[in-house]
Amino acid sequence: MNIILMGLPGAGKGTQAAHIVQELQIPHISTGDMFRHAVAEQTALGLEAKSYMDQGQLVPDRVTIGIVRERLAKDDCASGFLLDGFPRTVPQAEALDELLQQLDRELNHVIYIEVTKEKLLERLTGRRICRKCGASYHMVFRPPAVEGVCDECGGELYQRDDDRSETMNKRLQINLKSTQELIQYYEPTGKLTRIDGEQQIEQVTKSILSRIRRS
Ligand code: AP5
Ligand code: ZN
Repeated sequence: MNIILMGLPGAGKGTQAAHIVQELQIPHISTGDMFRHAVAEQTALGLEAKSYMDQGQLVPDRVTIGIVRERLAKDDCASGFLLDGFPRTVPQAEALDELLQQLDRELNHVIYIEVTKEKLLERLTGRRICRKCGASYHMVFRPPAVEGVCDECGGELYQRDDDRSETMNKRLQINLKSTQELIQYYEPTGKLTRIDGEQQIEQVTKSILSRIRRS
């Protein structure tokens, strides 16, 4: 099953991806996670990506398409994949179509998680991430059992630099425009499904899985 998970910053892509890949046993490919990993490792890719991420800007298509191309060519993607946060622009979507054609694979679903702007701001402000395993928490909606500590691995929880208010607003603005363009790109394909992302986390997962299993 080849799936794209789309949604504005804070819509719940990462949260839902973790459940879906476990259920479907396919790799989770998050360009945001790949960039954050490269930043932490201080690679050349990380240094370039950081300058854009810190300002809430999109990393240039040339860079982003390059890392996805490499990742999709790996053996573990042969039986399917879940793309989280890619494509984010029409040129990225076109590059993905081309890439899938070369690999002789087809896209099955584009899942768009819909959440209003007010809710997104609330979610991003309260988000905390595990430094060790990357699990996502929320101070109100999904608090850890012990404050500041990951339930899964005991790692320390931190706030992402780009979740601070100025960068967060910029990120939302930029993504609003590119997401609209992507919806217009995928709507005519008949593969796009809108999911109400304002339900409880478990209910959103159920809605996504039931859509995927229906096909
Ligand atoms: P990326 O990491 O992809 O960030 P994003 O798209 O801004 O998405 P987020 O990770 O912020 O949100 P999410 O939808 O995963 O929400 P989450 O599940 O955490 O990208 C970061 C940066 O990298 C970009 O700004 C860009 O610079 C660069 N980049 C990445 N991909 C790129 C690309 N393709 N092209 C160019 N540049 C790229 O949930 C948010 C919070 O809400 C959490 O606290 C969670 O616990 C809570 N929550 C989730 N679901 C619910 C619910 N149903 N109810 C209540 N709370 C909920
Ligand atoms: Zn953890």
